[in-house]
Amino acid sequence: MSQAVEIRPLAAGEVEHVAGIHQVAFPRQQNSLLWVSCNAAAYPRIRYFVAVQVGKIVGYVQWTEKSGFREEVVLELEQMAVLPENRGRGIARALIEQSLPQVARELEKRGARIKGVMVTTRTDNVAQRIYASTLGAETKAVIPDLYSADEAIMIALSPDLGRRQGER
Ligand SMILES: CC(C)(COP(=O)(O)OP(=O)(O)OC[C@H]1O[C@@H](n2cnc3c(N)ncnc32)[C@H](O)[C@@H]1OP(=O)(O)O)[C@@H](O)C(=O)NCCC(=O)NCCS
Repeated sequence: MSQAVEIRPLAAGEVEHVAGIHQVAFPRQQNSLLWVSCNAAAYPRIRYFVAVQVGKIVGYVQWTEKSGFREEVVLELEQMAVLPENRGRGIARALIEQSLPQVARELEKRGARIKGVMVTTRTDNVAQRIYASTLGAETKAVIPDLYSADEAIMIALSPDLGRRQGER
């Protein structure tokens, strides 16, 4: 990565920036500002983290707790995107690897731990490779034609990001 990137929680007043990235990254999904606003309002069930480079938000990741607030948390990486001009420089990798430990630390404060991470994506999306290498996620099922194409359901049980980062 050529310039330093900071990964931090979304701050108040930054929803529009994330909505702008959502709009560019997911052209089939509508009403980006409403979508991101609703999700941000669902904190702490939904947590956004942003990637900031030279003072500009260039990417985001959205973590969602599944099936109630449990001690053994199943977390979904529900969505992530990086601005087209900032792709291919490790920002998605940094978003996952640096935000998940932050979520884990927050969950520890209520006595909870991450049991597993699930993520779904189109089978033709390069993101599958990113989820495998950052989280150790494996494709457990493919649902034909779920959204706009075949969708891979990926799971990583007990992801250990500290160890994975140390291995790199
Ligand atoms: C998927 C996406 C978030 C990746 O962001 P990114 O910042 O470019 O990804 P990174 O640079 O961190 O790349 C991570 C890894 O994937 C690989 N990779 C990224 N884009 C790639 C591409 N187009 N082709 C092949 N490999 C690619 C990188 O080589 C890297 O591998 P490495 O860490 O082993 O070297 C970005 O392309 C995007 O926003 N796409 C549109 C939205 C989307 O599809 N989101 C995912 C589904 S929710």
